[in-house]
Amino acid sequence: MRLAHCTWLEVETYLRHADGILIPIGSTEQHGPNGLVGTDTICPELIAENVGKRLDLMVAPAIAYGMSQHHMGFPGTISLRPTTLIKLVIDIVRSLHVHGFRNFFFLNGHGGNIAPVTSAFGELHATLPSSGMRFLLCNWWLLPEVKAWVNKQYGEDEGMHATISEVSLTQYAIPHTAKHYPCTPERAPTGPIHDASDFRRRFPDGRIGSAPQRANADDGKKICELAVSAVCRQYLEFIKTS
Ligand code: NI
Repeated sequence: MRLAHCTWLEVETYLRHADGILIPIGSTEQHGPNGLVGTDTICPELIAENVGKRLDLMVAPAIAYGMSQHHMGFPGTISLRPTTLIKLVIDIVRSLHVHGFRNFFFLNGHGGNIAPVTSAFGELHATLPSSGMRFLLCNWWLLPEVKAWVNKQYGEDEGMHATISEVSLTQYAIPHTAKHYPCTPERAPTGPIHDASDFRRRFPDGRIGSAPQRANADDGKKICELAVSAVCRQYLEFIKTS
């Protein structure tokens, strides 16, 4: 059930028997020579849409911008400052809370969002104590089922940024956008991340440690199925303990 495709009456009806919502959050940032700028948003959106259908759960519009400062050396990247992202999450949650939502499950596609989103949860607990709100931040690429399959399938080629798994998911989600540009070297270098210009110097094509030319839509379908089952399980556990 997508919030954006409901009428307010349908949302009111939903809230008579449920108070949970799934909120996909990603980024708009470079993902190497053949990864889409929208990768980090497309992946959690795809998983969330399928979880929503399976559990009859409300899915909020995706937050398509994240904290991507270190990717600003590459055109197309749009970054929020950490404080902006914290305020954005707070305002979204506060709005939904007014209407009766209490269980907020954030499905995240971007590592740079973890600290600001977790800080937003802390702010919400501090400013709205006893509100009955509960939060969970789930990073899809760290789901045990997904990690195990990806490790077995790709080993070190998976990498840290512009990974095979995320590019595969986008190729499954939107097949006509799949790109097949060459990547040299085959597996990108790894190393620390500092500021945007240092990032571009160390990782000139935008990848970190990955070989995304191995990405394909069939693997994306498999990863999506694993992630959807795992998120459904996590969500039901989250609700059960409320
Ligand atoms: Ni990504």
